Amino acid sequence: MSLSQETRQKLIAAAQKARQYAYAPYSNYHVGAALLAENGTVFTGCNVENATYGATVCAERTAVFKAVSEGVREFQAIVVATSNGGSPCGICRQVLYEFAPDITVIMVDETGTVRHEGSLHDLLPMGFSPADLV
Ligand code: THU
Repeated sequence: MSLSQETRQKLIAAAQKARQYAYAPYSNYHVGAALLAENGTVFTGCNVENATYGATVCAERTAVFKAVSEGVREFQAIVVATSNGGSPCGICRQVLYEFAPDITVIMVDETGTVRHEGSLHDLLPMGFSPADLV
């Protein structure tokens, strides 16, 4: 499903705002995400690092888990905001794939410029889904 320009801009602004809340004292790489549910609700997230490093949670998963923990499991699009338009990590791609293999993923840099927009299928070809558990 294609996004209106108004919705795209709203999501970009929300992801950039969420990025301001990133807790990233170790990497200093601040990430924000804005996840658009099928019902129109927007869930935001930021990366939350940890002194153990391994307990760090990415911005995208923060947003997905906020949504799922509030009973929302269907998603249309996610905007990921970073300094340089960085790409979602493999774990976040897999978590998104669980709920929304067709989701549109938009990556923006700190100016809000779209560096990439496309389907999750292109980022995670032949992803493993619940349907594979037969
Ligand atoms: N990070 C995200 O929040 N999302 C990604 O998809 C890539 C990486 C975070 C994790 C860590 O806090 C920092 O960026 C550097 O890896």
